[in-house]
Order: sequence, then C-alpha cells, then structure tokens
Amino acid sequence: MSAPFLSVRDLTVAFHGRQGDVEAVRNVSLDLARGEILALVGESGSGKSLTSLSILRLLPEAARMTGRVEIDGQDIASLSRRQMEDVRGAKIGMIFQEPMTSLNPVLTIERQMTEGLIRHKGASRREALEMARISLDDVGFAEPERVLRQYPHQLSGGMRQRVMIAAALALQPGILIADEPTTALDVTVQAQVLDLLVDLKSRYDSGILLITHDIGVVAETADRVAVMRGGEIVETGSVDAVLGAPSHDYTRALLASHLTVEKAMHQRDADARRMAP
Ligand SMILES: Nc1ncnc2c1ncn2[C@@H]1O[C@H](COP(=O)(O)OP(=O)(O)O)[C@@H](O)[C@H]1O
Ligand SMILES: [Mg+2]
Repeated sequence: MSAPFLSVRDLTVAFHGRQGDVEAVRNVSLDLARGEILALVGESGSGKSLTSLSILRLLPEAARMTGRVEIDGQDIASLSRRQMEDVRGAKIGMIFQEPMTSLNPVLTIERQMTEGLIRHKGASRREALEMARISLDDVGFAEPERVLRQYPHQLSGGMRQRVMIAAALALQPGILIADEPTTALDVTVQAQVLDLLVDLKSRYDSGILLITHDIGVVAETADRVAVMRGGEIVETGSVDAVLGAPSHDYTRALLASHLTVEKAMHQRDADARRMAP
C-alpha cells in the first residue's frame, strides 16, 4: 500500500464555553492511503464532522484546533488561505449529506462543474465541458448533456448526490471525504450511491474517508474502520477484525443495535409476505 495521502495526528478541537473549554474532538489520529476506504463511524455528536472539517480547514470560527494534519506530505497549517483553497477540490474532494448545501441553486450544473475544472486544472472551457461530461457518464447518467443544462432543483436527491460525486471526482482528488453521503436518500438510492463510491475508488485509486453513523454501511463498503465516541477514537482496525471481534463495549453495542434493527426488518418482511394474499 502507498504512503498515507492523509495523515492526522493528535487532533483536538475545542470550543470555549461558559464552564471553560469543551473538547469536542480529542487526540484523534488516522491515516488514509489512496485506494482504500476508511470509515469513521459513531453516533450523532461524536465528533465525526468536526474531524472532517479540521482536515479541510473549514472549522467554525469559534473552534480552536491543535494537532497536525498532513495532506500529500504538506502540513496544512503552513498553507496560505489561497493555497488551502487549491488543496480543497484539487487534492481533497468533499461530498456532504445534503447536496443542496454545496450546489448553487442559481447556476446550471454545467457552470458549477466547469468552474472548478477551469480553476483547479487550468482547463479551457471546452476541455472542462468534456471532462464534466465524462464524469457524469462515469456516475451513471445516460444523458450527461441534459444534466449539464439543468439547475439543481430540477434533479432528484439521488441525482444531485451523483452530480456532487461527479463534480468532486472530475478533479481527480487523492482523497474524497464523504460525510454521511447517503443519509438523506431512499434506501435503494443509498445502495446505488455506495456501490458507486466503491467502484470509483478502484477506478481512480482515490482514498475515501467515509463518515457514517450506520455500521451496516461500514460492513458493506469500508476496508478499515475507526469507531468514534465522545470525540475520541475508541477502536480502529480492519473492518473484518473490528466487526468480527470488537474489543470495545461501545462497538459491541453499535453492532448489537444494528443486528436488532436488521432482525426486526427481516421479521417485518417475513410478516408482510405471510399477510400477502
Ligand atoms: N459550533 C459549535 N459550537 C459548540 N459546540 C459545537 C459546535 N459544533 C459542534 N459542537 C459540538 O461538537 C460535537 C461534535 O459535533 P460533530 O462533529 O458535528 O458530530 P457528528 O458529526 O459526529 O454528529 C457536538 O456534539 C457538539 O457538542
Ligand atoms: Mg456530522
């Protein structure tokens, strides 16, 4: 495996509160190489999004961060604002839970996709358009031309999420951060988007930091997993090792609740079949 493209060491994120500082992320360390999927899993409020925002240097003003983040061998703290803007997009792509927060509602998909390519890749307008078309084709759009002419609100949620993935991947970043990329989608579309991420990982050799609260998603897609709780990584390792023989009580509880849900759903399906005429 190649050297880690992303390396995080002793990341701590604190907020100043009335009763002093509150550490929302504590001593988080992780590595991600190209071509692998690392899942960051944990319940809501465990510090997953703050960890990803630290990597992108997009933390809220009030947050104070310590520790070290290296991207492609560069300490991001040493980069100017302008240099950091180039890192975002060109070296690290981002996909968020709700694509509408990242897509501009008043611009066509063509404008949004080509602008990044012109800016980060130095492409001409024509080259950018061709690259955008290819990416949309890669994420499964049968008619990229049509999508390019549309505005975000004219697309379904699943289509918007695929446009986001296409836009991020067109820039061929070393790694992609996907923060709950399927949480807002229907179950069937969720599965499609996850399959797409796994497929694109192998095709472009991108590394993916997949943030999720769903341990089922981890089992299906990730190579390695880091389990977060209360701002800390409590357990990490290969998916097989961690899910196969969890060493931490919290991981066991996450697994148990997932299995309970699975069982309930199977039961419901079985009941529905029995009830069917
Ligand atoms: N702007 C903020 N000000 C104060 N505390 C915050 C802020 N943003 C997040 N936090 C705290 O950090 C915790 C972790 O947040 P977050 O990383 O968004 O969790 P997750 O993505 O795992 O759901 C939250 O539970 C919250 O207490
Ligand atoms: Mg979050």
